[in-house]
Amino acid sequence: MKKMTVFPKSHFIFETDEIASDKSISHRCAIFSLLAQETSYIRNFLRAEDTLCTLNIVQLLGATVKDDNKEIQIIPPSKIIEPPCILDCGNSGTAIRLLMGFLSAQEGFFVLHGDKYLANRPMKRVANPLRDIGANIDGRKDGELAPIGIRGKKLSSFAYTSPIASAQVKSALILAGLSSEGVCTFSEPELSRDHTENMLRGMGVDIKTEGTTVVLNPPKEKLKPLDITVPNDPSSGFFFAVAAAITPNSRVVLKNMLLNKTRIEAYKVLEKMGVNIEYKQKESSYESVGDIIIEGPLTLNSTVVETNIAWLIDELPALSIAFACAKGKSLVKNAQELRVKESDRISSVVNNLKLCGISVDEFEDGYEVEGGELKSATINSFGDHRIAMSFAIAGLKCGMHIQDTACIDTSFPNFIALLSQIGNVE
Ligand code: S3P
Repeated sequence: MKKMTVFPKSHFIFETDEIASDKSISHRCAIFSLLAQETSYIRNFLRAEDTLCTLNIVQLLGATVKDDNKEIQIIPPSKIIEPPCILDCGNSGTAIRLLMGFLSAQEGFFVLHGDKYLANRPMKRVANPLRDIGANIDGRKDGELAPIGIRGKKLSSFAYTSPIASAQVKSALILAGLSSEGVCTFSEPELSRDHTENMLRGMGVDIKTEGTTVVLNPPKEKLKPLDITVPNDPSSGFFFAVAAAITPNSRVVLKNMLLNKTRIEAYKVLEKMGVNIEYKQKESSYESVGDIIIEGPLTLNSTVVETNIAWLIDELPALSIAFACAKGKSLVKNAQELRVKESDRISSVVNNLKLCGISVDEFEDGYEVEGGELKSATINSFGDHRIAMSFAIAGLKCGMHIQDTACIDTSFPNFIALLSQIGNVE
């Protein structure tokens, strides 16, 4: 089993353009290129286990991929091929759920599967609304768990109101709706990340957002190809933002980051806690991009996180490390979605913080952390990349042994190399 030890560090100055490329956008680049009429050009595609699995699937579905290490070209097939094998989505909920939507509307038989963690994550949130518009989807536990089998067919248009704010559910439905014949509307309780809408709009689709409702007018023809430089991932960059936040007199500069407002809410929470953060926007296409500068304050204040949860759901494990170093009690509410991520992240965070000597109360939809003195411990990642990286950052404060770190490669293969530029890692 891969493991690592991080040693304490007093203060540091760190500037990087090497934060992993955005995972959400990279998955979408690969999948959406199948919808285009011509070759898509993608620079800075995330070369991590999950997104490379998606690129492999796109090839199994008939695309030709040319890669000169600087730019990936994806030449779409004229018609999706029925693959002779299962489609392995690795650890990625985004890949499996978006592909469920896309493949439900394609002719052929497809089987989607993933690793042991993905095979236990809920799929009915996508399978049920797709079945309602005619999709032929099945899987273990009546379509709740992978492997998921799909016999694609023509689907009806829809007006669907989702009980959860989820970009994966929204994107799956939009991908299914693209080949339907009438206007499709999708509503959710809070706006989730909107890359699918932004990128499809860039590809020429008539898709509008009205509050928390998306209105899609299905195109009559294939789409314009993508020509995109994927920005760096603010969720991956956030580990280093927390590193600065918990280390007085430190400064971190993250370059060429995605600045979409549905993705930088956790940085806003750090600001509320007393961290000085500056955003320097640059020119960009599809999405807003720029540099983020974070300066470690002398003290961190506690806070409450209970709104816009979908905008910071992936950053909550790292944010919890900042809570553990803050003055007073910080509360997370309305975050029950954390229970069905790569691990049950409420339980992973709570149990590991307790091992580090921090007092934490666990609720069904969140937790309360009493800031205190983090102590060195041996923690389990539960096979979850964001848990492993969050506690590695805590190690800069107090030293930390992290077990089962291979999962980091699913999203951020150069994480340890970057962390080694700040502190000592073994
Ligand atoms: C993602 C959406 C979020 C997020 C995940 C990536 C996406 O999941 O947690 O890491 O790329 O659409 P949900 O949409 O299920 O909340």
